[in-house]
Amino acid sequence: MSFVKVAEASDIPIGKMKSIKMKDKEILIADVNGKYYAIGNRCTHRGGDLSKGILENNVVTCPLHGAKFDVTTGKVVSGPKIGPINAKTKDGIIYEVKVEGNEIMIKVS
Ligand code: FES
Repeated sequence: MSFVKVAEASDIPIGKMKSIKMKDKEILIADVNGKYYAIGNRCTHRGGDLSKGILENNVVTCPLHGAKFDVTTGKVVSGPKIGPINAKTKDGIIYEVKVEGNEIMIKVS
């Protein structure tokens, strides 16, 4: 396992997020109050692109059916809503992040 540079810190302002592709992975990097977190970018429900959703503090909302994930833990905050049905989904994958200077790095296997 090693850390790989994936973005420049200056590319992701506080409260914003960005998706990156690395090998076969799509990863969402979010800046929550000046600290970076990384989770899988594809929603665990049906693969919605979380980078196209809304980030409020530490919670990202999937643009497809509204599932909410805590980007600091990957945990589901609330499941998808499809019409009157409240569905369930799995927690997201999280990645370890470190910052060196202006470089955001993610630990990959
Ligand atoms: S694909 Fe994300 S909530 Fe359904």
